[in-house]
Amino acid sequence: MALGLGGSVYAAATPGETHQATGCKIGEMTAESAVIWARRTAASARLSNGIVRRGQGRAAKYLKPEENVELLEGASKGAAGWMRVVHDKGSTKWVEVSDQADFAASIPVAGLRAATQHKFTIETKATRNGRVDGELTGTFKTLPREQSSVPVRAALLSCQMYCHMDRADGFHIYESIGKWKPDFLLSCGDNVYYDSEDPVATSEAIARYHWQRMYSLPTLVECLRGTGGYWQKDDHDLLSDDAWPSMKDSKVKPLTFAQGQRLFREQAPSPAAGKPMYRTVRAGANLELWLPDSRDYRSANTDADGPGKSIWGAEQKAWLMKALRASTARWKILVNPNPIVGPDRANKKDNHSNASYAHESLEFRNFLKANFDGNVVSICGDRHWQYHSVDPHSGLHEFGCGAASDEHAGGTPGLNKDLHRFHRVKGGYLSIDADASTLRLQHRDVRGEVVHSRSFERKV
Ligand SMILES: [Fe+2]
Repeated sequence: MALGLGGSVYAAATPGETHQATGCKIGEMTAESAVIWARRTAASARLSNGIVRRGQGRAAKYLKPEENVELLEGASKGAAGWMRVVHDKGSTKWVEVSDQADFAASIPVAGLRAATQHKFTIETKATRNGRVDGELTGTFKTLPREQSSVPVRAALLSCQMYCHMDRADGFHIYESIGKWKPDFLLSCGDNVYYDSEDPVATSEAIARYHWQRMYSLPTLVECLRGTGGYWQKDDHDLLSDDAWPSMKDSKVKPLTFAQGQRLFREQAPSPAAGKPMYRTVRAGANLELWLPDSRDYRSANTDADGPGKSIWGAEQKAWLMKALRASTARWKILVNPNPIVGPDRANKKDNHSNASYAHESLEFRNFLKANFDGNVVSICGDRHWQYHSVDPHSGLHEFGCGAASDEHAGGTPGLNKDLHRFHRVKGGYLSIDADASTLRLQHRDVRGEVVHSRSFERKV
C-alpha cells in the first residue's frame, strides 16, 4: 500500500515497504514544470527510538568521536538505488542515487499544465532491474501563466528549530498550512540549525542528519507531499550564526561555507546547477516574488559600513533592481530571508535594519521610493517574532512571519511605536492572498488563526 493522500500516519507500506522516510520536497514550480526532491532510505520510517539530543543555544554540544550519528533519534539512513517520478502527464527517466549526494536527487518534471493540481508518484528501487519499492504519492500545483489573473495564495515560514517543535510529530504550522491549502509555500531560511542545536554540524554527515530528522517528521512529510514550495537559505542552514563567505571562525568548523552551499542545494529543490540561488517567481498577472540570496555574496559583517559594503553583492543587486522595475505584475513582493525595516536588536550586525548595513539599506529604500508607489512590500523571516512595520523614509511595509513555533519565539527589542503596526512574540506563519484588486497579508498563529491582517487595494 502506498502512502495515501488522506492519511496522516507515516507507516511502513505493504507489500513493498516505502523507502522514503525523509518524504519529498516539490519545488521550483513554473507554469509548466517543477523539481521534485526525493531520497531513498534504508527503512520506511525515521529512527524513532534513537538517542535524543536536545541541547540548544550555548548548550548545544558537539558529537563525541565514539557517538554514531546514525543512532540518533530521527536518523534516516540513506540507501543506494534508483528513483523516478510518474505523474499525470508522463514519467521521468530513472535516476541513480548514491552516497555521493546523500542518496537524494532533485528530479525535473516538465510538460505540465499551468495552474493545475498535479498528482505524482515517486518510485524507488534498489537495483536497475529490481522490484519497485512501496511508492510515495502526492500532489502539487503549477503556477498560473503570466497573462492569467487567477488569484494566488502562499504561506511564508521560517526558523524551525528541531528542539522547539511543538508536537511530537513536528510542527503545528505544517498541519495548519496543509489545511489552508496555499498554491505554494515559501520557506525563507533557518530550515535547520547546524550551529545552535545538538549535535553541532561539524561534518557533512551531521549536517545531513539535521535535514533527515527535520524532514522525516510526519507533519512535514504530510504537508510537503501535498504542497510545493520554494526554499531559501539563511545563516543557520548554511553554516553558522550570521555567516558570510570569508567567515573563518564558525562554530561548525571544519565544515566550510562551500560545503554548506553544496549541502543546501543537495537537500532542497534549488535552481539548476550553475545558476544562482536568487530567482523570481512569477505567479500570474497579479503577483511576482523576488527571492534574493542573502549569504552567498555578502561582505564580512565586521567590515566598516560604506558604499562598498553589501549583503546582496553588486551583480545580484543590479539584477534585483532591474527586474523589479521591469516587472508588470500588479503586486511585487520581496521575499527576503532577513529584515530591511526591522527594527532589530541594537547589537546585531547582520541585516539591512542594522546600523552595520545602513548604507545599502538606504540605497535600496531610496530606490523603492523613487520607482514604486507602494506596490512593493517586503516579507521576511529570521527574526523570531511576528511583526508588521513601516519605514517612515520610503513607506516600505515589512511583514516578519516569525518563528515556526511559540517555543522558538523571542529575542525582540520590544514594541516600537514609531515603526510597528503589529508586534507579537509568538510563532506562526504569514499568509499571502493576491488578486487583481487586493493584496492581503495575514499573520497567523501556529494553528492557522488570523492574529493580524493588512490589505492593500488597487483599482483594476
Ligand atoms: Fe532563526
